[in-house]
Amino acid sequence: MKGLVLAGGYGTGLRPLTHTGPKQLIPIANKPNILYCIEDLRDAGITDIGIILGNMMPEKVQEFLGDGYKFGVKLTYIVQGQPKGIAHAVNCSKEFMGDDSFIVYLGDNLLKNGIKAIPAKMVDEMADCVISLMPVKEPQRYGIAELSEDGKKVLRTVEKPKEPKSDLAVIGIYAFNSSFFEIYPKLKPSWRDEMEVTDAISLLIDSGFKIVPHRVEGWWKDTGRPEDILEANHLILDGIESSNEGVVEGGCSVLGRVRIGKGAIISESSVIRGPAVIGEDCRIGPNAYVGPYTAVGDRSQVISAEVEDSIVMEDAVINIERKIVRSLIGRHSRIISSSGLLPKGERLIVGENTTLYL
Ligand code: G1P
Repeated sequence: MKGLVLAGGYGTGLRPLTHTGPKQLIPIANKPNILYCIEDLRDAGITDIGIILGNMMPEKVQEFLGDGYKFGVKLTYIVQGQPKGIAHAVNCSKEFMGDDSFIVYLGDNLLKNGIKAIPAKMVDEMADCVISLMPVKEPQRYGIAELSEDGKKVLRTVEKPKEPKSDLAVIGIYAFNSSFFEIYPKLKPSWRDEMEVTDAISLLIDSGFKIVPHRVEGWWKDTGRPEDILEANHLILDGIESSNEGVVEGGCSVLGRVRIGKGAIISESSVIRGPAVIGEDCRIGPNAYVGPYTAVGDRSQVISAEVEDSIVMEDAVINIERKIVRSLIGRHSRIISSSGLLPKGERLIVGENTTLYL
């Protein structure tokens, strides 16, 4: 069995963060989302993996993942270019898949319990396709599955229905075999002009192929919006173990589960309260507080500030006597004091779609 991880799409819900790179590289607890997907595939025994590249700086994905060797997998890059939907992305992998069956993992989805159950289900039930299901609060936002009364058969899958017939979302992990490529030529673009994976699944059902539903246990997140990213960060940090490869100077306290990276320095009267992760070569302090559910990326600095329930990406500087909560701070950003500068007032360089709560 092979794997396919999708790293395309525009990431509109995450602008401006996605103006400078694909959403699948946004770090959750200091690890890009896409790496969680690759590790899940690897842990399910799938190491021959195709990566679908879109047109939002795809070279950044290649730069980060390389040939996959250091993550224990072998990666093949496949260019989708212009995003035309998930089914289109999957179809781009036709040559790479050959006659193999495969698991598709959307690179912005995150699962607590991995995907080990799915390949087994595909084989044991002699399925042509396994879809993963999870009850959701807003079914209008997802692909939705309609099941038979006994819950064993998938009758239909519908993309973002206005009047959903169930609350079972078809989440972004699917298993297919080559029947997918057989039916693809019959697929038509949807109302949002995308080749929908949910339409492809319905077409497989109508063509007599066997679709098996798999109910996912534990949490699942689609990290398409800032609030989802923060929630995913919460969920991952809830499971971390303490470790310290940095230096915690006297007079500082590190409380609860905190992971401190190599070369990081926690200095002068600073407090870190876990769960939190501090990346490599960070400078925390003097007089800084990093509160629960915060991830500080490699080489970032937090000085005099309090940061809680937030993601500070790599190479950022926060040097201000203020408290920052539930925030996403992009790579190389600087939040610094304007005191002493004239004219007085907040000085902002604000990207598209940004919200500032001042
Ligand atoms: C996509 C799929 C949808 C699925 C969702 C899961 O939605 O089209 O069927 O439920 O991913 O993350 P999109 O992210 O394109 O809105």
